[in-house]
Amino acid sequence: MLRDLLAIRRDPLRYLERVVARYGDLVAFPLPRTPVLLVNDPDGARRVLVENARGYSKQTVQYGALGAVTGAGLLTADGPEWRRHRRIAQPAFHHGSLDAVADQSARAAQHLLGQWRDLAPGAVVDVDAACLRATLDVVGGTLFDADLAADGARIVTAVGEALEVVVARARAPRPAWLPLPSKHRLDRAVATLDETCARVVRSRRARGIEPAASDLLALLLRSADPDADGQGGLTDREVRDEIVTLVIAGHETVASSLGWTLQLLAEHPAVQDRLHAELTQVLEGRRPGWSDVPALRYTRRVVDEALRLYPPAWVLTRRAVEADVVAGVDVPAGSLVIISPWLLHRRAEAWPDPAAFDPDRFAADRAAAPRPDYLPFGVGPRLCIGRDFALVESVLVLATLLQRVRFEPVRRDGAPTRPDVDALVTLRPHGGLPLHVQPR
Ligand code: HEM
Repeated sequence: MLRDLLAIRRDPLRYLERVVARYGDLVAFPLPRTPVLLVNDPDGARRVLVENARGYSKQTVQYGALGAVTGAGLLTADGPEWRRHRRIAQPAFHHGSLDAVADQSARAAQHLLGQWRDLAPGAVVDVDAACLRATLDVVGGTLFDADLAADGARIVTAVGEALEVVVARARAPRPAWLPLPSKHRLDRAVATLDETCARVVRSRRARGIEPAASDLLALLLRSADPDADGQGGLTDREVRDEIVTLVIAGHETVASSLGWTLQLLAEHPAVQDRLHAELTQVLEGRRPGWSDVPALRYTRRVVDEALRLYPPAWVLTRRAVEADVVAGVDVPAGSLVIISPWLLHRRAEAWPDPAAFDPDRFAADRAAAPRPDYLPFGVGPRLCIGRDFALVESVLVLATLLQRVRFEPVRRDGAPTRPDVDALVTLRPHGGLPLHVQPR
């Protein structure tokens, strides 16, 4: 068992791959205090996440550790509290708000192009750092009508540091009060996020709460009015928890997805050329906007396929509230259930030649939507609230960037390099994501 623990900590993705290769798609670890079931079976995943969703909670080590940063926000809350918060936040993610997402995304990508305009030929850019800043700007501008750019570097660093501690705690649980250096780092990062929230809320209250379609902050603050929803309203703490949740859930995930997409495009020039040809044909030199999204079909396929190979949320965990049976396996109450999109997206039964990057897997005539073995955004009642937000953002950022520049891999001894994957809260490129950026 100790060997397993060490292997999980060293390289969780390889560990999971080895376990299913050896023991099959349903692996029970009959641990004494917490039985664990790894479910790599699409029907089993549906049972847990959709059909019997109410029989499972998010009271897991993974979400408990995240709660030290986000508090009881949408990602970590359960039961009636979660339902109430989801109802309050949902209107900010309705179709009408995607126009604003598209606008902010194109603007953030234009900003990156501006920074890259004067690069020397063959210059190398850390695309991961660039994507983190851009996606933070999009969340700030769209959901909070706040310009986070001035504080962007501090916020990105604070989120990164906080999530590193969260992962360390999830992998080696220990009392949160122990005065370890990691506790210091976490406290400092959380203080930065608290300050940011307080500033955003203060400035909005001073300006008055004029809601725009996508304006989550206005919805939260109006709900903080004691009579707003007839249930006592949101407390200041609850408002803070939702803001931090949305900053965390909404920026590193999309940055991870965009970064890996650009890496894959750099390695596959024929795919990059086809995407560029689509942009030329659909946009005819114009800047892309919301109304172009439906026509950018190949761009969307590229995003879907990159999310298959690099699903930022690579592991989902649940706790069985009561006993259940999953794909024929008994799940005692209290069990931990692990479902990994990383594994499901690589099942050879569902995805021929699973390691190959082939956006045409998602061509309309080949894709059987929705697929039970494709869960980059989860499924069921806890489906990602930002799914459409993320897809529109990814398509618009890619379209804006690839219209003007070309990405090429950094080569070593003539061969393209690809960074190792750090499976933290999201899939992070180890040491950043260096790519050559060439003007078109
Ligand atoms: C939930 C993935 C972008 C906000 C989730 C879940 C997944 C996911 C898998 C479900 C977790 C579970 O069932 O345990 C992703 C990916 C994204 C992305 C891959 C980008 C490519 C976003 C964005 C936002 C967001 C842009 C907000 C602006 C949330 C929230 C939840 C969530 C609040 C919790 C929803 C609930 O339980 O009610 N996300 N997400 N996500 N996501 Fe996303």
